[in-house]
Amino acid sequence: MGRTDKRIALSELRLGMQVTKLGGSWLQHPFLRGSFLLTDAADIVAMERAGIKEVWIDESKGVELPSDARQVAQVGPGGADPGEGDGEVPASPSPSATKPGRSPRQAPASTSMASELEQARKLCKAAKEQVMAMFQDARLGKATDPNDALPLVSEIAASVQRNASAIISVARLKSHDDYTYMHSVAVCALMLSLARQMGLDERQTRLAGLGGLMHDLGKAVMPLDVLNKPGKLTDAEFDVMKKHPVAGAQLLRQGGAEPEVEDIALHHHEEFNGKGYPHGLQGEAISVLSRMGAICDVYDAVTSIRPYKNAWDPAKAMREMAGWEGHFDKVIFNAFVKSVGIYPVGSLVRMASSRLAVVIAPGTESLLAPVVRVFYSLRSNEPVQVQTIDLASPGCKDSIVGPEDPAKWGFTQLERLWLAQ
Ligand SMILES: [Fe+2]
Repeated sequence: MGRTDKRIALSELRLGMQVTKLGGSWLQHPFLRGSFLLTDAADIVAMERAGIKEVWIDESKGVELPSDARQVAQVGPGGADPGEGDGEVPASPSPSATKPGRSPRQAPASTSMASELEQARKLCKAAKEQVMAMFQDARLGKATDPNDALPLVSEIAASVQRNASAIISVARLKSHDDYTYMHSVAVCALMLSLARQMGLDERQTRLAGLGGLMHDLGKAVMPLDVLNKPGKLTDAEFDVMKKHPVAGAQLLRQGGAEPEVEDIALHHHEEFNGKGYPHGLQGEAISVLSRMGAICDVYDAVTSIRPYKNAWDPAKAMREMAGWEGHFDKVIFNAFVKSVGIYPVGSLVRMASSRLAVVIAPGTESLLAPVVRVFYSLRSNEPVQVQTIDLASPGCKDSIVGPEDPAKWGFTQLERLWLAQ
């Protein structure tokens, strides 16, 4: 192990990195000794299943840790020099990673998806910083004009227009610290995509996007210990948090927001059946934009990928939400399903070929025929060489049988499969 080796969390591992050592006892995992270039996402899945939480990489020989993640890696226990701690063994590839020069086969659709994901990542980062600044101003009692965020909403709208899946999928990835800000960005993108699906005019679409970005602004003035509490809230804490819609609407009014934007902040927790808050409004007494907000807000909350929290995969979220009788406006929910897709990017699916795959790009022909990445055999019950298949391509014989629950299979980091395009 050289001096350049860096300890990183398994969640930071990317294809192209040179892995020199794996955390955990070698008895617990099937990897042999030696250093290897990571070229197969199936190996990440295998490491995850073997319970490996951290690895060491040699940045002089492979892809480096992205600069935004670097800071985290360096301040982590052990820092840049991993030393020779207990229970850690040098790593070498599983049999599938030893073949030189092999890379996952790329279906044509995923090339543009890869560049869109990269752009979406940059945009999400910039958007997150802008939302953070807005929250900070609100905390300090400064009334910011929400319309200042319109250029950002336009940029997110352009990204949604080009490829809604990319930004919606990237905005699902959140850390504990940036959760509220990234959630705002995600709801903005989902609202814009839904507005497009519903054929709303330009003004309504802009209001939907801006309202999505601002819907939780009231959280800026909620007590930080309650807002950032990692576990479940007590009833008393929940009662405090329930004040955020009114607080947000007030902040937005002070800042000169349009009434529709204020309305989304005020009523995004109302339920179609009248059981929501703060006013218990029912049915069409809730504005269309706020009914849209309620759906986008819940969808992003339940599908958000955060460390130490099990997110629902997108397909499961759709199924569950469809079963919440009376919670959402059915007509708008159906439009939402169409806008996000039956098998959104990141869904785990079972293939007719008895393999598991993750959806990595939406279908060009049909919602039922997306581009998938196959990585696991149900016959041998182990990871297989990753293969990218465009189910819409002529001659493709495989198809999706149905969605699968990642929790049932113990997969907690499927995003590594669709992010590494
Ligand atoms: Fe909220």
